[in-house]
Amino acid sequence: MTSRETIAHELTKARERTLRLVDFDDAELGRQYSPLMSPLAWDLAHIGQQEELWLLRDGDPRQPGMLSPDVEQLYDAFVNSRASRVNLPLLPPSDARAYCGTVRNRVLDTLDALPDEDPGFNFALVISHENQHDETMLQALNLRSGAPLLDAGAPLPSGRPDLAGTSVLVPGGEFVLGVDAVAEPHSLDNERPAHVIDVPAFRIGRVPVTNGEWRRFVDDGGYDDARWWSERGWAHRTDAGLCAPQFWNSDGTRSRFGHVEDIPADEPVQHVTFFEAEAYAAWAGARLPTEQEWEKACAWDPAVGARRRYPWGTTEPTPALANLGGDAMRPASVGAYPAGASAYGVEQMLGDVWEWTTSPLRPWPGFTPMIYDRYSQPFFEGAGAGDYKVLRGGSWAVAPSVLRPSFRNWDHPVRRQIFSGVRLAWDV
Ligand SMILES: [Fe+2]
Repeated sequence: MTSRETIAHELTKARERTLRLVDFDDAELGRQYSPLMSPLAWDLAHIGQQEELWLLRDGDPRQPGMLSPDVEQLYDAFVNSRASRVNLPLLPPSDARAYCGTVRNRVLDTLDALPDEDPGFNFALVISHENQHDETMLQALNLRSGAPLLDAGAPLPSGRPDLAGTSVLVPGGEFVLGVDAVAEPHSLDNERPAHVIDVPAFRIGRVPVTNGEWRRFVDDGGYDDARWWSERGWAHRTDAGLCAPQFWNSDGTRSRFGHVEDIPADEPVQHVTFFEAEAYAAWAGARLPTEQEWEKACAWDPAVGARRRYPWGTTEPTPALANLGGDAMRPASVGAYPAGASAYGVEQMLGDVWEWTTSPLRPWPGFTPMIYDRYSQPFFEGAGAGDYKVLRGGSWAVAPSVLRPSFRNWDHPVRRQIFSGVRLAWDV
């Protein structure tokens, strides 16, 4: 599965998606839709710059590149905050496109000359990076005001709305958390190494929390009752004036990529902060899962005493198993993927919405940074970069080839332009 042909295919697929997301005029690409997001023109050139660095310069910025050092510096995510990128003298989009194309052609030539069996981890890193930026660009485009630039999305299978609010028991006991490179050669550093931990019994939502359920929280005054909120959560709710998920309008509709539509009651709620998720869970008599609980419910097969590659088994993700890849432009109704259930019967763990957990980002015991050593380390708890909560499972916007049950995402607990949702858990 790491053959040159597969890698070339994944590179091409990611690039086709990127180019669709920047298929707009130069003025559009230079706009900043929100201080939280980069102009699309920045993402475009940054994708090329990272690809050049990791695949043509061995990750060593001292090796000469195609851009002058001054220009290259503009695309360093650690040097330039997202809010500041709109003011940088960015490459004109036509130059950025040409640069990305030149890099890609050289990368494919390089790939051709490598051994077929093991072209190297850097390719997986670059494929994951470009796909992650595609999701970020979708977040930006969702924040854009005005007539829609993107269509409303492809059809999705219908759901089983009765599953909303139901849960399954995950009995206590040991399981293997994380993965090793042997089993998952494309896993990133923070997913490794695999190690045995004991997880006490818990219950977990069979499906994510729906818009319909969230509506009852709103109608019950959940946003106005400090009882349900943590101290930090209530302070943020007050400062930010939160009263419903982002993109919900006061007339009962929602806005999605510029499309205004009724809020589908059976669809997983999206665009909530960790603090809102935490408050909703308290109101519902539940809590959020830890990421250890989440991963066990997703990947462990108790009958076999081993991890599954995917919740449903070994089959690669298909549109019948999970809502991934971005074409849907939204989550699927709960219960839409019975064939995608985990060994415990938990559904929609991969795809649809990123699920907030209570866990800060910490290294697994035995953590070793990968070649891109700033991917995880600066964000670990105590590393000084701020506070983060881990999100699991990927959203509808994540490419299936870069998602695994062990994949860990993280963000500030106040963020909600991301495709974030909620799955509840309960002590037993
Ligand atoms: Fe990046």
